[in-house]
Amino acid sequence: MGQCNIFTEKLWRQFITAHAKCIVLFSTLFILVGAFYSTRLLQSNVISGGSALLSMLSTKAALTDSAGMPIKTSAKIQVQLDCTTLNLTGTCPRNHPSSFYDDQSRSSSTSPTCPDLFRWIHEDLRPWAHTGISRDMVERAKTTANFRLVILNGKAYLETFVKAFQTRDVFTLWGILQLLRKYPGKVPDLEMMFDCVDWPVVRSADYSGPNATAPPPLFRYCGDNNTLDVVFPDWSFWGWAETNIRPWEHMLSELKEGNHRITWLNREPYAYWKGNPDVAETRLDLMKCNVSETQDWNARVYRQDWVRESQEGYKLSSLGSQCNDRYKIYIEGSAWSVSQKYILACDSVTLIVKPHYYDFFSRSLMPIQQYWPIKEDDKCRSIKHAVEWGNSHKQKAQEIGKAASEFIQNDLKMDNVYDYMFHLLNQYSKLLTFKPTVPKNATELCSETMACSADGIEKKLMLESLVTSPSDTSPCTMPPPYDPPSLHAFLRRKQSLLKQVELREKKYWEGRHQ
Ligand SMILES: *[C@@H]1O[C@H](CO)[C@@H](O)[C@H](O)[C@H]1NC(C)=O
Ligand SMILES: *[C@@H]1O[C@H](CO)[C@@H](O)[C@H](O)[C@H]1NC(C)=O
Ligand SMILES: *[C@@H]1O[C@H](CO)[C@@H](O)[C@H](O)[C@H]1NC(C)=O
Ligand SMILES: *[C@@H]1O[C@H](CO)[C@@H](O)[C@H](O)[C@H]1NC(C)=O
Ligand SMILES: *[C@@H]1O[C@H](CO)[C@@H](O)[C@H](O)[C@H]1NC(C)=O
Repeated sequence: MGQCNIFTEKLWRQFITAHAKCIVLFSTLFILVGAFYSTRLLQSNVISGGSALLSMLSTKAALTDSAGMPIKTSAKIQVQLDCTTLNLTGTCPRNHPSSFYDDQSRSSSTSPTCPDLFRWIHEDLRPWAHTGISRDMVERAKTTANFRLVILNGKAYLETFVKAFQTRDVFTLWGILQLLRKYPGKVPDLEMMFDCVDWPVVRSADYSGPNATAPPPLFRYCGDNNTLDVVFPDWSFWGWAETNIRPWEHMLSELKEGNHRITWLNREPYAYWKGNPDVAETRLDLMKCNVSETQDWNARVYRQDWVRESQEGYKLSSLGSQCNDRYKIYIEGSAWSVSQKYILACDSVTLIVKPHYYDFFSRSLMPIQQYWPIKEDDKCRSIKHAVEWGNSHKQKAQEIGKAASEFIQNDLKMDNVYDYMFHLLNQYSKLLTFKPTVPKNATELCSETMACSADGIEKKLMLESLVTSPSDTSPCTMPPPYDPPSLHAFLRRKQSLLKQVELREKKYWEGRHQ
């Protein structure tokens, strides 16, 4: 259901008229008012526009469904940006709800268990499970960090060391601020160092052995087998301004629609890839698999021309219209690539070229179930075989495509992204052995300090991904850690499925040489 906002300020009204199909639904669960407070908070807050609120609440009693039965409603708090206060006082508004509005009927004990991918949170924090995290450890993570973020009593404070590439830091911080709006008062006090650069840097080899010091906890977007960096959802979940990619919630529905446009059987029976090949050797290597006059590896690969596409309004790279092929290739760039989730969301079979990096969700993907593995050092033949296999096992191939897009639509829906952040930060803060404090050079950060002065596409993406209501449910329930045998069983299963594909591929090529 589309969330519908009334922006009290002219600027945002223009935004809404221009960019959203906004219907004001008074008869639904939402009660929208100028000052936007729930009845529970009414007593304890001085609000403007209170009379409007009361008059609207009185309409609540009259709501009925089509059968004439009363609809159970709860007034949903709406918290809009308050740029007026920021302008007048120069500080973050203080009247936003600071405590969690928890619907008693849906208390935390009944929250559904989080998806399995949350179990990797335990693995990522395991290096500090016995030692805890001291101030010294956090300070040592500063060497490469772009910023330090402190959360204290539900407020965020930022100390920037180095500006990040593009708007990575901006939208990462924006995302954390939206988490604070979604779960006011729930995110515990913490201090974290965040590095927005692609590659993980905390090498586990440097922190092992008898005299080893504890590793510094450093947050970033991806990790690999040799490092201990803690993975966190990337900026693109709130939008990627430089490539005109809109917030994930919007993309998810666009991709869902895109899937209905052409059924799997009617899609091109090839493996499609489009991107920038110049960022990595392995991508340049993939270009060799393109169709030519002399050979056809069943691959159709294209160079992304950002300059031309930005001139043409990115119509060509609209992700929802990139679900036209039965197979889509995912290949890492200089490290993990943001593109993976968009590729997996098409009902097409994702062909994953053996990855070296993982983001927060990719370790949960299972070969043959949600994707088809492609060799790194023999890409063309591997792709050729994958496509031939799928075209002659159409039912199974469709199931793989469907399983991946269901994983993305369910386990990776935006509520789960926020819950992942919540649980990661919550578990992390439990490990801190010191009391977080506001650093001297830090400034308070809130959605207003970021969005009110933003303009252009950045502002558009921020308003689109603004969390306007505290959640009325608790975060999902954190699953327990993998015990060592079950983690090993999981990894073994993955290995054995990879092996199966390898053997199948080997047989296929042997057969063709006879
Ligand atoms: C706040 O100040 C900015 C910059 O001076 C201005 O563009 C904006 O319209 C102001 N907003 C409000 C609500 O006063
Ligand atoms: C660990 O420290 C001890 C005592 O300082 C030293 O003798 C030993 O060589 C060190 N071991 C390693 C692997 O560095
Ligand atoms: C791959 O082949 C297609 C079809 O001939 C062509 O349109 C495309 O530009 C080629 N891609 C690259 C990267 O050369
Ligand atoms: C990383 O470790 C996992 C689990 O042991 C293994 O399956 C995978 O192949 C490794 N990745 C690389 C790039 O070595
Ligand atoms: C605060 O910032 C200034 C200038 O950027 C710097 O010289 C100083 O060391 C910083 N102070 C702390 C405590 O980090």
